[in-house]
Amino acid sequence: MKNSVSKLIDLSGKVAIVTGGAMGIGKGIALKFAEAGASVLIVDKVSKNEAKDTLDQLKQSGAKTEYLQVDLLVTSLLSSVINKALNTFGDLHILVNNAGIFKYSPVTELSEELWDNTLNLNLKAVAFLSKLAVNTMVLKKHGGRIINISSADSIKPTGSLSIYDASKGGVKMLTKAFAKEVGKYGINVNDIAPGGVNTPGALKITFKNPTKEQLQISKEQTEKFAKSLPLQRMGEPEDIGNAALFLASDAASYITGSTIVVDGGLLLM
Ligand SMILES: NC(=O)c1ccc[n+]([C@@H]2O[C@H](COP(=O)([O-])OP(=O)(O)OC[C@H]3O[C@@H](n4cnc5c(N)ncnc54)[C@H](O)[C@@H]3O)[C@@H](O)[C@H]2O)c1
Repeated sequence: MKNSVSKLIDLSGKVAIVTGGAMGIGKGIALKFAEAGASVLIVDKVSKNEAKDTLDQLKQSGAKTEYLQVDLLVTSLLSSVINKALNTFGDLHILVNNAGIFKYSPVTELSEELWDNTLNLNLKAVAFLSKLAVNTMVLKKHGGRIINISSADSIKPTGSLSIYDASKGGVKMLTKAFAKEVGKYGINVNDIAPGGVNTPGALKITFKNPTKEQLQISKEQTEKFAKSLPLQRMGEPEDIGNAALFLASDAASYITGSTIVVDGGLLLM
């Protein structure tokens, strides 16, 4: 029994792409996949040097890993992501669309620039990278998994994040629309809606280039918020990694078009 249960979450022989995997939630997901035996391609806009900590930890797990520096806002570069996985590992089974940006902006101060950047990364890149992944999985005739990182904000807005909320609402519906169409190829498409998670991005959400004092304010606000949650703590990247591992595994083979909320009870408030 024990063996068959551990086999359920075994990703040995599987090839996964994690976008935005250099840090934060993407890092948490990549580490879980590597621990479960998958080969992992990290795709991120930062340099390989800036991703060193993550890449070192992945190597320590014994997993095969590769890094590709690419700006996912450039649609013409998306095919290089799939090609990198195919050229390095010879296959593709799992795509995690995690890279995303979130910036506070009250309705009265919305800018077209923020709209374009947010929608193009959080929604357009997800759609077009998923399209390429689906085409590859169909050619390979072995099905696959697409896991999109949406947000609790796709269900209940925080405030002053309307553009972000619209992009994540789009991700939630894109997940369902893709799932409906590609189930016949054995491809499951789901999303994870995190609440507040301790990441470099979350720390900087209020301030663009925070000073030491501003980072301290941000930390204090986060601690106060965490204590107000039903589970009384912030989420950690590993919490989202665990949900992604489940969705990527055989244990989730009959789940598609669904959202797993991982928010410590935030949506109950
Ligand atoms: N942290 C949270 O509280 C929280 C809550 C809900 C949803 N999310 C979602 O989870 C995902 C990850 O968030 P995070 O908190 O880990 O963020 P983060 O800012 O800590 O990390 C995001 C990663 O994406 C990369 N990235 C950004 N723009 C990119 C681009 N144009 N091309 C390639 N890579 C790019 C960054 O370099 C970084 O490594 C996002 O989609 C975010 O919206 C986060």
